[in-house]
Amino acid sequence: MTITKQLHTPPRTIMTPGPVEADPRVLRALGTPILGQFDPAFTHIMNETMEMLRELFQTKNKWAFPVDGTSRAGIEAVLASVIEPGDKVFVPIFGRFGYLLTEIAERYGADVHNIECEWGEVFDPEKVIREIKKVNPKIVAMVHGETSTGRMQRLKEIGAACRNQDVLFIVDAVATIGGTDVKVDEWNIDALIAGTQKCLSVPSGMAPITYNDRIEKIIMERKKVEKGIATKADAQTVRLRPNIISNYFDLSQLQDYWSERRLNHHTEATSMLYALREGLRVILEEGLEERFARHRLHEKALVAGIKAMGLSLFGDEDSKVPTVTCVLIPRGIDGEAVRSTLLEQFGIEIASSFGPMHGKIWRIGTMGYSCRKDNVLFTLAGLEAVLIRNGATVNAGSALQAALEVYEEEVALSSL
Ligand SMILES: Cc1ncc(COP(=O)(O)O)c(C=O)c1O
Repeated sequence: MTITKQLHTPPRTIMTPGPVEADPRVLRALGTPILGQFDPAFTHIMNETMEMLRELFQTKNKWAFPVDGTSRAGIEAVLASVIEPGDKVFVPIFGRFGYLLTEIAERYGADVHNIECEWGEVFDPEKVIREIKKVNPKIVAMVHGETSTGRMQRLKEIGAACRNQDVLFIVDAVATIGGTDVKVDEWNIDALIAGTQKCLSVPSGMAPITYNDRIEKIIMERKKVEKGIATKADAQTVRLRPNIISNYFDLSQLQDYWSERRLNHHTEATSMLYALREGLRVILEEGLEERFARHRLHEKALVAGIKAMGLSLFGDEDSKVPTVTCVLIPRGIDGEAVRSTLLEQFGIEIASSFGPMHGKIWRIGTMGYSCRKDNVLFTLAGLEAVLIRNGATVNAGSALQAALEVYEEEVALSSL
């Protein structure tokens, strides 16, 4: 048998909606030696991470910790822990990930009610609020930034209506957290799920979540301690509600490990926690407002370049998410051929799309560490060259000039 060669990955510029380039500081943190999961040095790192997550989520919630697994693990943990079979859950859908919320809720026995809008649009919050009053669900679950369509839903009014109606409001902010404003407390969000591999610039494999005491109350009423580690007091505790169906996603058990009790559940992914901790440090050092402004700036430069090239954007402009730009593939051009030439010749990755959008749009991410001037300029240059080679008519030379103008304007404004 020949031994496989040492791992060597080709250099890449990743301009997809995730996973994006990990911050070099995060990659270095991944190489930190392992600590035991109950070592005080490690539990201190857990507490520091919780503290920084609260800042990122703009919340005073006690609970803010990562679930081990990709973002959907966080979604599943929250939904599995709150939903009891037969519960009414309302999911307004404006792209692929609304269907994911529906699918997970249904697997846990929810009676799911949906409304849908055209891909490329979002809901008028009033429409959602009217529907909440009509359906009277236990939970409203909604996506904030839809990576499949590049749209961002206004949540503030919906959150306020949910609180007035005593409905739980659960939000998937996987594509927006760390790239644009997400105010958990101010928007009355009861539980929120984030992702690491997008605007946090940490590899995929953890899903930071937060939830408030309204959610905690339900979880505590369903609390279970595994028989092999339960104390007498645990065994005598009377449950008010049925146990959470999943073991891995049982937040009553996960929060026992993330609390001072440090009761064992699974073996913590220690290296990923080092990575998340460093990713959060990078974000808080930059400053949330400064980081959001950086995402807006590079989005503006990218959009200016795309339009100057003569390409059109997909979707309603007012609801565009700053972290994903959807571009209509010009008629007669093979979108996949363009993507593979970009990768082969330039090492640049942009994304294709899902479901009804497949073959119609490219999705270009400007997220986290990937959201930089050099990446935006390189992507515009590469895309223009590849489009010309594929026979598309573009305004050659205009894209980079338009993007550079955006950057120069920014320099001029900041020196005022
Ligand atoms: C908005 C949104 N929600 C959920 C997910 C699922 O995340 P994961 O693939 O990390 O499980 C994604 C992934 O792209 C996403 O963009």
